[in-house]
Amino acid sequence: MTAAERLLCLSPAEPPVFSVGAMPVPRPGKGEVVLRVEAASVNPIDVKRAGGYGQRLLKLKGAGKFPLVLGNDVAGVVESVGLGVTAWQPGDRAFGLVPTGKGGAHATHVAVESRWLRPFVDGHDAVSLAAFPYTFTTLWQSLRKAGIDEHNAKGLEVLVHGASGGLGRMAIQLLTR
Ligand SMILES: NC(=O)c1ccc[n+]([C@@H]2O[C@H](COP(=O)([O-])OP(=O)(O)OC[C@H]3O[C@@H](n4cnc5c(N)ncnc54)[C@H](OP(=O)(O)O)[C@@H]3O)[C@@H](O)[C@H]2O)c1
Repeated sequence: MTAAERLLCLSPAEPPVFSVGAMPVPRPGKGEVVLRVEAASVNPIDVKRAGGYGQRLLKLKGAGKFPLVLGNDVAGVVESVGLGVTAWQPGDRAFGLVPTGKGGAHATHVAVESRWLRPFVDGHDAVSLAAFPYTFTTLWQSLRKAGIDEHNAKGLEVLVHGASGGLGRMAIQLLTR
């Protein structure tokens, strides 16, 4: 089996302590795709988790235990697909969300449920696509919780707090389309 590597966050500390560790290339489970990672993001939540944030809650998802592999966004090349996956084949390029769980995207390879992936968008490279899914999903959920969707947004007056930040700028772009 070919070797793969992941970035391990060793224990909750500030500044965090990392180490690169070898791992077997993951095998895709049912409905999963294994991506060879070209780019992964570092979100503020990664920094907070590296400092110990959310450990109790995340343990319920099998994710709070150190050492951790952080990273919730990925862009890369499909290496293998699991049972039941028809939308992807090896060699395709995909980007998407890696939900917080046992393994994050700060690795050479990551297994992701195929439903969290989308094809590369023309004109965008792996780095820019990997900056997008987690922030966009957060924003999308916030808008939905505020009762705003693509059908009723037009004509609404919406106050965006923190509009100069990552989510805020995305909110402005989405709401003014
Ligand atoms: N990014 C994500 O994926 C994500 C996921 C889950 C939750 N969140 C949460 O969503 C919020 C926004 O995230 P973000 O990534 O957009 O953060 P960000 O890029 O750091 O932007 C933060 C924004 O809040 C403003 N701000 C900071 N302190 C303020 C204060 N005391 N009064 C008024 N405005 C203030 C900043 O204004 P200045 O530019 O003037 O400093 C900036 O516009 C954060 O609470 C974050 O924890 C983010």
